[in-house]
Amino acid sequence: MVTIKDKTFVPFISAEVIQARIQELAGQINEDYAHRQPLIVIVLNGAFIFAADLVKHLTIPCEITFIRVASYAATESSGQVKEILGLTDTIAGRDLILVEDIVDTGLTISEVCSQLQAQNPASLAVTTLLFKPDALKKPLDLSYVGFEIENRFVLGYGLDYDGWGRNTKDILVLES
Ligand code: IMP
Repeated sequence: MVTIKDKTFVPFISAEVIQARIQELAGQINEDYAHRQPLIVIVLNGAFIFAADLVKHLTIPCEITFIRVASYAATESSGQVKEILGLTDTIAGRDLILVEDIVDTGLTISEVCSQLQAQNPASLAVTTLLFKPDALKKPLDLSYVGFEIENRFVLGYGLDYDGWGRNTKDILVLES
């Protein structure tokens, strides 16, 4: 059990189960990209531990880069605008694999994908460790999903609560 500020989190997915699933995902990516040299685009901050473990199992030649997504309120009508920070690589013609920690509403990843698509990559696949199908607000094509989970707040293994709690080997869930 872990207490952060006012909230208590309990065990949810163990380190062993996470690691076994990551090996399966990496195996699938190795097969699918056997004759390609993808650019792995890691979405910071939450995906940093997942991505580090995932890429250790990739045997295909690949480049790795990092982005952040900043959200800010633009106008009342357009709501939240997402801006991609840190993408200095040329992505036109490249096979991109985006690595995310969690897809919740899907709004972040779908906005990131449409901005990346505008730069004409050869292909774009999304890998996410966690996916909450019941929270999804936009249809999304997720190529590699670690775990589909119920719509509850999770913590650890890179995911945070207000900046805290990223540093666990297991994934925890808010006590209900
Ligand atoms: P979206 O709702 O799919 O746009 O989710 C965007 C971001 O919200 C994710 O990349 C996470 O950083 C964060 N997030 C969503 N659900 C959770 C959760 O259960 N725990 C921690 N962070 C979350």
